[in-house]
Amino acid sequence: MSCLLYFCRILCLVIALPFQIMDIVGLYAFYKRLFPLFAYNITFSYNDKMHETKRDLFRNLYKFTGPDGTLRLLEIGCGSGANFKFYPDGCTVICTDPNPHFERYLQMSMDASKHLTYERFLVMSGEDMKEVRDESVDVVVCTLVLCSVSNVKRVLEEARRILKTGGAFYFMEHVVSEPSSWTYFFQHVLQPLWYYLGDGCTITRTTWKDLEGARFSELHLRHFEAPGVTITIKPHITGYAIK
Ligand SMILES: C[S@@+](CC[C@H](N)C(=O)[O-])C[C@H]1O[C@@H](n2cnc3c(N)ncnc32)[C@H](O)[C@@H]1O
Repeated sequence: MSCLLYFCRILCLVIALPFQIMDIVGLYAFYKRLFPLFAYNITFSYNDKMHETKRDLFRNLYKFTGPDGTLRLLEIGCGSGANFKFYPDGCTVICTDPNPHFERYLQMSMDASKHLTYERFLVMSGEDMKEVRDESVDVVVCTLVLCSVSNVKRVLEEARRILKTGGAFYFMEHVVSEPSSWTYFFQHVLQPLWYYLGDGCTITRTTWKDLEGARFSELHLRHFEAPGVTITIKPHITGYAIK
């Protein structure tokens, strides 16, 4: 299979060449403006397919409510706000994303989720959240983001820094498949093109290893196959880790 993989990957690299050139000359920045519109629309069908899984994941969020009776939650790379409807009533949400062009779609999701209190939208990357104080939030949420960040370990360190002791980091991410499976084959062949079409998304990450090494005191993690999504992002992990 490795010769076929090598050949198909070269082919895909050639197809991705125009995107690489656009990136080098600065034209790819236009795509960054368009991506939030795509992401906003794709979110509806993804959320439909993942409704039960997300509902189960966020079911015990309330357990991390602070002693003052409020649940202060920060979402890393919140995009258009796909998770808001799963958060409990009265939850205070701090939204963060490095792409400011998401704000318009984020606002639409906020308008549709009146059960939450929005503290602010911070334009920043998960690797550098210096605007957020140490030990200041009860929960950090990260869904479909660790595939796109440039440094997963750094994002997890930042999440631990801003979490209160006993607070939780919730995640749902697509990951690389078993080596020698067809999914693994397509993930490795299509990666160069996927990276550009998915705004920096990497489909070959072993993100569970980063979570295992992130020095949380407890890690509740399970692997599952996402239903009804394209083969390249089928293998998922989900769960939460406690500081
Ligand atoms: C596929 S979207 C997922 C959005 C949302 N979390 C969801 O579940 O629908 C990936 C998001 O990660 C954001 N992102 C990319 N690089 C990032 C980084 N270094 N730190 C934080 N967020 C990042 C993107 O701007 C985008 O909003």
